[in-house]
Amino acid sequence: MERITITGGVPLQGEVRVSGSKNAALAIMAGAVLASEPVVLHNIPHITDIYTMMAMLRRLGTVVEFIHPHSLLIDASRISNLEAPHNLVTRMRASFSVTGPLVARFGFARVPLPGGCDIGARPVDFHIKGLRLLGADVSMDGDSVTAQAGRLKGNVIYLDYPSAGATQHLMTAAVLAEGTTVIKNAAEEPEVVDLANFLIALGARIRGHGTSYITIEGVPRLRGGEYTIIPDRLEAATYAIAAALTRGDVYIANANPEHMMPVLFKLQEAGVQVESNQTGVHVRLQGRPRAVNIKTMPHPGFPTDIQQPMTALLCVAEGVSIVTETVYERRFRYVEELQKMGADITQENRTAVVRGVEKLYGATVEATDLRAGAALVIAGLGAEGDTTIENIYHIDRGYENLVAKMQSLGAQILRTSDEPVLVSAQGVPVCSV
Ligand code: UD1
Repeated sequence: MERITITGGVPLQGEVRVSGSKNAALAIMAGAVLASEPVVLHNIPHITDIYTMMAMLRRLGTVVEFIHPHSLLIDASRISNLEAPHNLVTRMRASFSVTGPLVARFGFARVPLPGGCDIGARPVDFHIKGLRLLGADVSMDGDSVTAQAGRLKGNVIYLDYPSAGATQHLMTAAVLAEGTTVIKNAAEEPEVVDLANFLIALGARIRGHGTSYITIEGVPRLRGGEYTIIPDRLEAATYAIAAALTRGDVYIANANPEHMMPVLFKLQEAGVQVESNQTGVHVRLQGRPRAVNIKTMPHPGFPTDIQQPMTALLCVAEGVSIVTETVYERRFRYVEELQKMGADITQENRTAVVRGVEKLYGATVEATDLRAGAALVIAGLGAEGDTTIENIYHIDRGYENLVAKMQSLGAQILRTSDEPVLVSAQGVPVCSV
């Protein structure tokens, strides 16, 4: 088993560079299936979720290869298989989003129901309802979804909740539909905007992305092209919070402060010094942070992904913070792990009451999902003594070179393993896909 071990108490200092956005890259890779010519995507992070999506696209008959350390060629001109493999889709929820592009371009897709981080009910009913509204005949048999259509037809789709994944998925399906599609109550996440900008670069006609009302005028085909993925706002926020918890001084390069706005405002409210410019964010803290309340919401509300890292910071704040999770009910499973480190947290249903303590103490803890893993790394960096984090494959899903990046900021952090690990050229553990 692989672990991360940390000797806490070292203030993080220096500069760290943020990688490309995982969530944008995954949606864009699925969207690349729409293009009948090759696409080159720049700023792709080396993380296991990207490798899972690569494996999945290959199984469909797409050529997918890195032509530069962070530039990925995707050539979907000769797709030969319209059935997605069970083991990959159940491993990662984002892979379900090839359904729309496949049915839009080829009139057929058979895709298993998705998996991903276990953070609560993650249905795909909005996706299925939306595909049906676009004219697809969608049926479920066992644990798979089959979607069939002639050419999809534009329609008005109202989402009961501004789901990022459903907005992205339905936008990609609508791009090749006949006529106009309007997605109402659409998600406004930067990753949705990035996908729209990518599709536009290939010839799609989309307006209103970044608002709750997106209009897509269908076109007959998408050409190839090149596109650069936005920086990962969730990774950037993780480093910002780690800098604050260790009372450090860190410049986070290649971060987009506009995308991070809800987190940066909360950090400032907690007493953290934050300065941003066009190319990055400078974060500093001396002394303890102040308690603040957070409530997760769709963008531009406080991101659910940063609820866990932020709670790690609030564990050592002066005062009592109330953390309310409105997006995923099971995103509190890490609370027990923080309690092992001395955190004073009472959690019931969707609310956690965090009474700040002077310090956290090192312990052996388990990453229960991706962002829980990040929260535990942050907690370990700020804690007194040694912390060991187990089940770190969750962290590998979404953080490129986390250990090396933290080391470059002075952290005493190591990755250890009981047995040899197969790694990619970039040092990322490779699962058997
Ligand atoms: C994406 C992100 C994830 C982030 C989440 C919310 C990716 C790969 N993952 O996940 O990191 O935490 O957005 O910002 O981009 N829902 C339904 N029915 C559906 C779809 C969603 O009820 O068909 C509900 C979900 O259960 C959840 C809420 O909508 O309560 C938001 O989910 P959604 O925005 O779709 O999350 P994902 O796209 O899966």
